[in-house]
Amino acid sequence: MKSILDNRPALAKEVYKVAEVAGYLWQKGWAERNGGNITINITEFVDDEIRSLPAISDVTPIGTTLPNLKGCYFYCKGTNMRMRDLARWPMENGSVIRILDDCASYVIIADQPVKPTSELPSHLSMHNFLIGKGSDYKASLHTHPIDLIAMTHHKPFLEKDVLTNLLWSMIPETKAFCPRGLGIIPYKLPSSVDLAQATIKELEDYDVVMWEKHGVCAVGIDIMDAFDQVDVLSKSAQIYMTAKNMGFEPAGMTAEQMQEMTVAFHLPK
Ligand code: 13P
Ligand code: ZN
Repeated sequence: MKSILDNRPALAKEVYKVAEVAGYLWQKGWAERNGGNITINITEFVDDEIRSLPAISDVTPIGTTLPNLKGCYFYCKGTNMRMRDLARWPMENGSVIRILDDCASYVIIADQPVKPTSELPSHLSMHNFLIGKGSDYKASLHTHPIDLIAMTHHKPFLEKDVLTNLLWSMIPETKAFCPRGLGIIPYKLPSSVDLAQATIKELEDYDVVMWEKHGVCAVGIDIMDAFDQVDVLSKSAQIYMTAKNMGFEPAGMTAEQMQEMTVAFHLPK
């Protein structure tokens, strides 16, 4: 069967990175059933032939208007599709959409009419925000990491930057590779425009945000970058939990050690 990826190695490379990450999400236990979703902005790979492809779906409203997305194209995980399947067959468990000129609706153009993720309002709002601030980030990831979600069931951890500082202090690399920390978004209905709006507000200050009692949302240059940031935070959460399971409160790196790291790695404060 013909695919939009045929003879487009640069585009295929990005989609196959998504497939690779989908496999990791499943292996890590972060992607039960259809849990989690990924979108990537693929507009830079779009040529005249892609631009002339006809719609293979009805015009569908996004639920919100996103002015920076006019004429943009995204690869999106399909709703109800499983990461473990997407890992092997990305174009059967996801599709490419075109944002229409009203900036409020989309059509599917390839390969098959796989309906995009139910979290499309949040994903597209994040891409709209990133374009608006001139960012070169192209990927957005939502996933269900067990350890990080468990931590949001404890009220004191929901205060601003309590988790950021705790997770950073577990191992030096966490601040180095997730330098903007972890934002917290109080519980909102999954797939709602409310959740999308709360998410982009937090993106002003963070590349990774927690949706309370639901999951994580991360943005990055590409999908590996978004995944890596969640992975280092999850590693820190596991170190914390392991210490607690051994019966003690982990000491954490000292303020001096954190400061030394911050200077040496040229990290933001
Ligand atoms: P989708 O299957 O619609 O992508 O939803 C999964 C999910 O995690 C919703 O938050
Ligand atoms: Zn979810």
